[in-house]
Amino acid sequence: MSNNLPKRDSFGSKFGVIAAAAGSAVGLGNIWKFPYITGENGGGAFLIIYLVCIALIGLPIMLSEFSLGRKANLNVFGAFKKLAPGKSWYWSGVLFNTAAFTIMSYYAVVAGWIFAYIPRSISGSLAGQDFSEAFKALNSNTWEPLIWSFIVLGITTFFIYSGIKKGIERYTKILMPLLLILMIILIVRSLTLPNAVDGLEFLFAPEWDKLTPSGVLEALGHAFFSLSLGMGVMMTYGSYIKKSVNLQTMSLQVVIADTMIALMAGIIIFPAVFAYKLAPDSGPGLIFVTLPGVFKEMPGGMIFQTLFFSLLGIAALTSTMSLVEVVVSSITEQLKIARKKAVFLVVGVMALLVIPNSLSYGLLADNKIFGKTVFGLLDFMASNIFLPVGGLLISLFVGWVIKVKNLKSEITNNGKLPFKWHGIYKFIIKYIAPVAIFIILLYATKLLETFGVL
Ligand code: PHE
Repeated sequence: MSNNLPKRDSFGSKFGVIAAAAGSAVGLGNIWKFPYITGENGGGAFLIIYLVCIALIGLPIMLSEFSLGRKANLNVFGAFKKLAPGKSWYWSGVLFNTAAFTIMSYYAVVAGWIFAYIPRSISGSLAGQDFSEAFKALNSNTWEPLIWSFIVLGITTFFIYSGIKKGIERYTKILMPLLLILMIILIVRSLTLPNAVDGLEFLFAPEWDKLTPSGVLEALGHAFFSLSLGMGVMMTYGSYIKKSVNLQTMSLQVVIADTMIALMAGIIIFPAVFAYKLAPDSGPGLIFVTLPGVFKEMPGGMIFQTLFFSLLGIAALTSTMSLVEVVVSSITEQLKIARKKAVFLVVGVMALLVIPNSLSYGLLADNKIFGKTVFGLLDFMASNIFLPVGGLLISLFVGWVIKVKNLKSEITNNGKLPFKWHGIYKFIIKYIAPVAIFIILLYATKLLETFGVL
């Protein structure tokens, strides 16, 4: 195989494809971020908006990304160039790749915190401590979290180094189901804590007056973030999917799996938050403060805690792999750089970007830009701006540029599969998704404030 002509890899089994796509979607977004932003935005009402965004916008965009990717069989730049020759749509690739670098730069930090909790769980050192102090001591430290983020990047490199089939597929299909089982055990424990009902009420009973316009944008942004949409991950993975796979079923399966895991995380966290009289809006530390309490109440808690943080760490790695893959596929195919070199190059740059994010809770905690730490600002920009704008571009591209009728053969595997919701899909992709995203972006005063417009 010559370096100038990288051979395109593809996913082997059908389950492997779903596992990899679900592996990208399921990650820290579901278990770390979903509970804490739901807590910050008042609970039930936020959840409903989030679910509406998932069903109405997330699902059709997921199907669009898979089918665009598979139709083009190329990286994001190549795909836009091939599907809309002579047009400037391939510039979307710049936004997608920027989003990948941005997300990776803070995602690796949070994944690092997760990894840091593994040795703490094994040694049982958390048990006698105030959990919130213990978390603060970790994330405000200079070196430890930084080193853990580098370890995350190192393992990501190792995983991705072996290519698509062997790397991504092999690990995700065993470990994701294991995480699911562990979460079911945790649900049982959490629901039997005192005052568990209060937590469920917080999560499921909507209090609409707690919902703000920026909360709505946050829900939309998180729908994209959690499903890994709006930045070409699913397009890139789509390009590795075999022609025989049913993309409609697959999109639905990934969306359902992702949403289920987020809901399960909520059902684990909020009863515990109320049982231990913690604040639901305690921010990014929420799971690090509540979960050790839940584990403490379990027989063999330290073992479960070790297993949980290990599996969550792996779930995070299957997401970091997908982030790196977007950039690696872009530069190997567009710039004709050998895959292995590309992986090192990309991860190297990501390692540099990780530094200011990792220091955001320590040395750089007082260095605020637009009132946010580097970490907070990059998370806001990526989830609430880059991804929704990326989703807007994808819906406009499918709805108005290449048009749904030209994507239909890809979605139906050349007419072999029925496409019952064709009409609804077309209406959503052409009108509902772009208009809704645009309006939410505009009305989110936080966004306009951040850039000094309001
Ligand atoms: N979906 C991942 C999660 O929920 C994060 C992610 C976002 C991964 C965007 C890839 C692209 O953790």
